[in-house]
Amino acid sequence: MKRLFRTKPIDHLHAEASDDSHGLKRVLTRTSLVSLGIGAVIGTGIFVLTGHAAADYAGPAVALSYVLSGLGCLFAGLCYAEYAASIPIAGSAYTYTYATLGEFMAWIIGWDLILEYLFAASTVAVGWSKYFLYFMRDAFGIHLPDKLCRAPLDYKDGQIVQTDFLVNIPAMVLVWVITVLLVVGIKESSRFNNVMVAIKVTIILMIIGLGWGYINWDNLTPFIPENTGEAGKYGWSGILKGAGVIFFAYIGFDAVSTAAQETKNPQKDMFWGMIGSLLICGLLFVGVSVVLCGMVSYKELHVDAPVVYAFEKAAGDSLKWLRIAVEVAVLAGLSSVILVLLMGQPRVFFSMAKDGLLPQAFAKVHPKFGTPHITTIITGIVCSILAGFLPLNLLGELVSIGTLLAFTVVCIGIIVLRRTKPDMPRPYRTPWVPFVPIMGAVICIGQTVLLPADTWIRLIVWMALGVVIYLCYGRRHSRLHHHS
Ligand code: ALA
Repeated sequence: MKRLFRTKPIDHLHAEASDDSHGLKRVLTRTSLVSLGIGAVIGTGIFVLTGHAAADYAGPAVALSYVLSGLGCLFAGLCYAEYAASIPIAGSAYTYTYATLGEFMAWIIGWDLILEYLFAASTVAVGWSKYFLYFMRDAFGIHLPDKLCRAPLDYKDGQIVQTDFLVNIPAMVLVWVITVLLVVGIKESSRFNNVMVAIKVTIILMIIGLGWGYINWDNLTPFIPENTGEAGKYGWSGILKGAGVIFFAYIGFDAVSTAAQETKNPQKDMFWGMIGSLLICGLLFVGVSVVLCGMVSYKELHVDAPVVYAFEKAAGDSLKWLRIAVEVAVLAGLSSVILVLLMGQPRVFFSMAKDGLLPQAFAKVHPKFGTPHITTIITGIVCSILAGFLPLNLLGELVSIGTLLAFTVVCIGIIVLRRTKPDMPRPYRTPWVPFVPIMGAVICIGQTVLLPADTWIRLIVWMALGVVIYLCYGRRHSRLHHHS
């Protein structure tokens, strides 16, 4: 029992962090980290979920859902920043938990991060392929066959059902292309990400700038529609429920911390990478949600592509070109989200393998490219199979609840670490401890309570599977166990 809660000594972690013989290349700068953060964050959430959350739960106050959820992420991000600066290791929340709450909890969080990175990447790849079909039609008049662009299984009314389709090839091909890029090099991947980020941020600024002129202020009053009597249907509880839904939009900023061993100066730059990207994205999110709900009534926004819908409705044909521009932004946006999430996942596996909790092959680094190629390829294959064949609407909320859980543990860990290792050198210290970590944990847990019961059940099943794997493999192969 004691073994399960044994923590990894900080001096081991510091030795690992400063030892560059692992083969990963230190090439990332502060700007590339901010860009990775924005790359991971701006995606399906802002372009799709904003409309759903406004229509069904929060009304125009979805902007406040973004503020609330953003505050939770900011507090968690400030805790992440202390860890990432003091223990700059690719395992991120997994490694931090190993240092604070012990091996068993670390494994649980590592297992949980698969939801945040791998499953989220598959979910976003499926969203990408939908937009790819629209784009091919609108820009080139090409109609791709549905049979080869959708999954053979779907999830409806709590059941998995068969569809008339065979496989989602665009989603699979996208994942393969990104996987190749990630194997070839972190520098190449980061350059691709910079271009995608430039495209999506420019188009988002255009959406805010052009949309502002079409705002009908009547649509924004009352800003917080009256609650219908049901928890989560408008009013303040609607804002909270909306926050749980749009939380997906913020997912990914913490993936920056998995690049710690490839960053030139992680002690100084991790903070900027995470907090800088979070603040920029939060401002853009609030801007887009105010503009969207101002252009059309929030009640109409439960559609596949709310941004395109709002512009069609408010501006008619005069801004038709913007529709294609938005599709380009979404395609660019979602591909960089997938890139950064698929960059994060292998690096967590890499750290877990180094600790002996996963097979050693996962810890191999390519001699020329300097990337964890084997784990990157395995992650890419699994991600593409999920994206090609499975009904991913089953996973969306599971991804959010899993990530909220990881953030909560990171926040609690900071309080523990201040007590257990008060003298550890900390290049960056989370401000106002314990207020910030406690508020981070409270807001994260708050966002999970209104998520549906079956999402909770799926989380418990996933975690139980993780516990079984740990007991059968990790516990026996743990390096910490063998060295002591
Ligand atoms: N934050 C990412 C998105 O919204 C995962 O697509």
